[in-house]
Amino acid sequence: MKKAMDTLQVQLRAIRYEAPTINTYEFHAPDGSPLPGFTAGAHIDLHLPNGLVRSYSLCNAPGDTHRYVIGVNRDPSSRGGSSWVHDALRVGAVLTIGAPANNFPLVEDAAHTVLIAGGIGITPLMGMIQRLEALGRSWELHYCTRTREATAFVGALRQYGSRVQFHHDGEPGGKRLEFASILTQHDEHTHFYCCGPTAMLNAFEATAATCGSGARFHVEYFAAGEAPATSGGFNVQLARSGRLIQVSAGKTILDALIDEGIDVSYSCSQGVCGTCETRVLAGVPDHRDMVLTKGEQAANRSMMICCSGSRSECLVLDL
Ligand code: FES
Repeated sequence: MKKAMDTLQVQLRAIRYEAPTINTYEFHAPDGSPLPGFTAGAHIDLHLPNGLVRSYSLCNAPGDTHRYVIGVNRDPSSRGGSSWVHDALRVGAVLTIGAPANNFPLVEDAAHTVLIAGGIGITPLMGMIQRLEALGRSWELHYCTRTREATAFVGALRQYGSRVQFHHDGEPGGKRLEFASILTQHDEHTHFYCCGPTAMLNAFEATAATCGSGARFHVEYFAAGEAPATSGGFNVQLARSGRLIQVSAGKTILDALIDEGIDVSYSCSQGVCGTCETRVLAGVPDHRDMVLTKGEQAANRSMMICCSGSRSECLVLDL
């Protein structure tokens, strides 16, 4: 189970229409007291009454202390997350959420920042824009959606004039954004942030790999890119207790630990939120997550136990 100390109660105070399939949801503390602070790019986990836990990026200004605002797109293949939020969540409802966490932090002193959004991937970038504006930093946004009508936050973004470029590939004459032309047009002091569908992020990362230092290129995945490692057949040794846990076929490491009654933190169970990150003391993980960079995965210092497996017969974890 997710550890209780990471959670808090919030009350839904407003729902706003942003586009035909996108609403924003504004949460406050039930008693109006200040909420824990957050940084640009942070997300919260909603613990839904149907048992699901879903991560949503915060799209309000990081300086806000009285509210959290998330944008939720109704996913046509929703398994009960976004469809529940759209259909069942009502103003006044009290929900448990995870305190803000950030796997997509903003480098605040970059000479220039290029933000690239695909669809609902705009949400963390909205918080970044407000932070960059507060700091007086140079930035630009490329915002890709199928059509003008399907585009959220248009009114709020128009105030920034030519710094915001809309790209609608589903409209007559519209075409996909060419990453190469954007990524090669800026010097090594520019940082790039991309958030959107997996195919878009894969294309962005492939282009970024040809453009020098990976430290300037930042991505956030919403959904798992690879299937979790469930072939089993290895052991996990828990360094703090010395216990040896067998991970059998059909189970993830997280499943095996929960079966043994071991209390570990987790949330998305998909390798995208980072909650279950665990230090690796020995052995070689089979990384399947979307949180660690390729370099961090190669270093094998930590792993996401909800989805990653093992390439060695035994993994020793700092648990
Ligand atoms: S629980 Fe989200 S990455 Fe593992």
